[in-house]
Amino acid sequence: MSIRINASLASVVAISVATIAFSHGDVAPQPVNTDLLPDVGEEWLLENPYRVETAGLDVWLNAVEIGASGYNQNCARCHGLEVVSGGLAPDLRYIEAEEYGDEWYTERFIHGYTQNGITRMPGFGELLGQKAAWAIRTYIETRPDDEAMAEVSPDLKAIRDQLLAWDSAGETGDTAPIVTALDEISDNIETLSGAPVAESVAFRASRILQADPEAYKSAAETLTVGLSAAN
Ligand code: HEC
Repeated sequence: MSIRINASLASVVAISVATIAFSHGDVAPQPVNTDLLPDVGEEWLLENPYRVETAGLDVWLNAVEIGASGYNQNCARCHGLEVVSGGLAPDLRYIEAEEYGDEWYTERFIHGYTQNGITRMPGFGELLGQKAAWAIRTYIETRPDDEAMAEVSPDLKAIRDQLLAWDSAGETGDTAPIVTALDEISDNIETLSGAPVAESVAFRASRILQADPEAYKSAAETLTVGLSAAN
């Protein structure tokens, strides 16, 4: 019994220490595991090497996933969840997905930004490295236009509900027309950066169903995440 009490006391202490560490302005950069991504050398490149056009679909998909986690841990608190800025810092979705925008991006990523001796944005270059920089860049530039997402959300909701109905009834449904519908929606959703493919939940759910036509639940959950973000 006393062991239990001690354990819960210890966790209360641990929580308050963590809160104190967090309420302090400087949050240490969180390392990003980039092992799955191809090496890009030491010297900083001028252009994103993980774009779908240059690196191919598999590398690009890994970059988006790794970049999402790197972004959420290191950038979202200032630049906003899903890269939709709440006004604290610029909206990064508009930086052009080409060399010109990349140069601007890496300049800020590496050095951060200091104004009148106050660090508005810490530099991440040395701590996170180049692979993480480009993975985060890939995630940022492939965010779908959130207004376009809001417009298609009734359609996505209908698809989601159909998938959930099959799942809960234990039925087998025909997902081929659903994949077609998701692809059509996905093709019409653009990025704000000019990157050719938006990695939207429609895109993601379609890929899940193409890999496994009976993955109703997983595809539905993916759509649900996007629906709550669009609202
Ligand atoms: C502590 C808050 C903070 C964090 C964390 C932060 N930034 Fe920033 N960032 C800012 C501010 C403020 C600016 C605006 C500085 C300026 O005027 O250029 C900025 C500017 C930028 C710019 C230039 C945007 C533009 O339109 O000019 C880029 C690119 C950028 N940040 C990327 C990132 C990335 C990537 C991360 C995470 C690895 C990150 N930032 C983390 C606060 C932050």
